[in-house]
Amino acid sequence: MRLDKLIETRLQTTRKEMKRLFLMKRVRIDDIVEMNPQRNVDSQLHQIVVDGQQLFTEHVYYLLNKPRGAVTAKQDARCQTVLELIEEADRRKELYPVGRLDRDTTGLLLLTDNGQLGYDLLQPKQKVHKTYRAIVKEEVTQQDVAAFADGIVFHWGIVCQPADLKIISTSPTASEVELTIQEGKFHQVKKMFLACGKKVVELERLSMGPLRLPPELAAGAYRSLTQSELQQLKKYFR
Ligand code: URA
Repeated sequence: MRLDKLIETRLQTTRKEMKRLFLMKRVRIDDIVEMNPQRNVDSQLHQIVVDGQQLFTEHVYYLLNKPRGAVTAKQDARCQTVLELIEEADRRKELYPVGRLDRDTTGLLLLTDNGQLGYDLLQPKQKVHKTYRAIVKEEVTQQDVAAFADGIVFHWGIVCQPADLKIISTSPTASEVELTIQEGKFHQVKKMFLACGKKVVELERLSMGPLRLPPELAAGAYRSLTQSELQQLKKYFR
């Protein structure tokens, strides 16, 4: 949550009073004077003290194993949404998925009501790496590995950032690969393979930044981030 919003809601300050608190160095995060009212904070990660009073946030962070068929949207007239997979008691008004996965893609999806964190994680300059496991209908070769490392060029000239492609198994009719990309263009993985004349028939996200898909999390199930996972996201709280 933005620090100024937290102070305003918890301490009912006017804009003038808020400005004064910062100018008087009465705002401390982890025992250091904070001068940036727009900083993103969470009391699970930061000690937030304003005018001698400790303030608390109530954000939620869920790691969902998105099943095939659910759509990454807040609402959909026809399909189940990823938000509907969250029990009502765990839902929050501002809860939303960070980034999107296609309807037929499965795997790791972060949902949070900390809008600022979600926004920051998706900024291209953050270069948040995402790893996918894919089944491709054709043979994947070392030439493909080299092309992905150089930066795939889409047919309309857009150049992708270098990506790390690992072949797990391959044959003329099917290959299993792991691909790590550092950006998030629309249908990126499928389009990268299409640019090499190959079709992705199964796609699962295994990781996003420091978050890993827990093997024990069944499709459609979710859990809150652990304290250790949240700590690893701390560097994205700006
Ligand atoms: N790339 C895709 O093509 N689809 C996804 O769902 C995610 C990444």
